[in-house]
Amino acid sequence: MISCDKVSKYFGDFCAVNNVSFEINRGEIVGFLGQNGAGKTTLMRLLTTYLSPSAGAIKINSIDVKNSSLLVRQKIGYLPENPPLYENMNVQDYLTYAAQLKNVEHKKIKVEVERVLSECNLSKVKDQTIQTLSKGYKQRVGIAQAILNDPPVLILDEPTSGLDPVQIKQVRKLIKSFEHKKTILLSTHILPEIEQMAKRVIMIRAGKIIVDNYIEKLITTEEDRVLVCIKGMESRIHEAVEHTEGIRLINSIATDDVLSLELGVKKELEHFNGFIENVFKVHGRILEIKEQRSTLEEIFLNLHKN
Ligand SMILES: Nc1ncnc2c1ncn2[C@@H]1O[C@H](COP(=O)(O)OP(=O)(O)OP(=O)(O)O)[C@@H](O)[C@H]1O
Ligand SMILES: [Mg+2]
Repeated sequence: MISCDKVSKYFGDFCAVNNVSFEINRGEIVGFLGQNGAGKTTLMRLLTTYLSPSAGAIKINSIDVKNSSLLVRQKIGYLPENPPLYENMNVQDYLTYAAQLKNVEHKKIKVEVERVLSECNLSKVKDQTIQTLSKGYKQRVGIAQAILNDPPVLILDEPTSGLDPVQIKQVRKLIKSFEHKKTILLSTHILPEIEQMAKRVIMIRAGKIIVDNYIEKLITTEEDRVLVCIKGMESRIHEAVEHTEGIRLINSIATDDVLSLELGVKKELEHFNGFIENVFKVHGRILEIKEQRSTLEEIFLNLHKN
């Protein structure tokens, strides 16, 4: 479990993290979102003991980060924004070294390194020097060292940054497979990615939390958005909209004799059935009905309009 209580971080006079509080339960995957410079990396450094807070308290699995930083580091797998890799080492030697640092039992190191090489698709480059790897492969090495020793908590700063589409899919699958097993906070700028991996998001702006909620709750509004294409007379179809309770016209575009309507429909389905009946009464013919859901991306952009 991750717990932050009124945490702030100042760099001189500048407040990068401002009075932040949240809890992430065991087994939860939480997406951490915010514009460039919002304070994501700084907060992740605080959680992983690489920075110490100016105020407030952080606990990882009930262990206080300030008092027991070494113990906390053993519980955490951390993928930093720019993984500090030993560029002159080859991949296998680096991971073996990282396993030793993480106190992996001596006799288990070989098996553990094999496991992460395989899970991160690194086996074929295991003898290559890190400095000769492409950006995406370096990122995979960073992920591999984070999951060494199977830590209960993962802090991943933009884990899919720089990866190719095939690898992005595999890394997402790997992270998703930890759901209910590990406690994960991961940052990303790819918003549809969060919808695939996490059920909850925390959004931060200028160091302050502006949203902490379940994605399902954020994208469910009081009314559904529906796009309908209807063949028929524009004025009569608008009448049908007006005469249906629970339906609101948001936008209407006419091309030839086809009308594209964007409607706001109150939750209960009977409103829409009533609308179909009314369209039928004015001799309209429905060509297409499409439900539109608002996305996390729209919500994010709305919150960052100014
Ligand atoms: N060591 C430091 N000294 C002074 N200012 C810092 C330091 N580290 C971070 N900052 C500032 O704190 C703010 C938050 O930076 P941070 O790296 O946490 O943002 P971020 O949300 O991770 O952004 P990005 O999406 O670009 O990675 C920025 O204004 C940054 O310049
Ligand atoms: Mg960052």
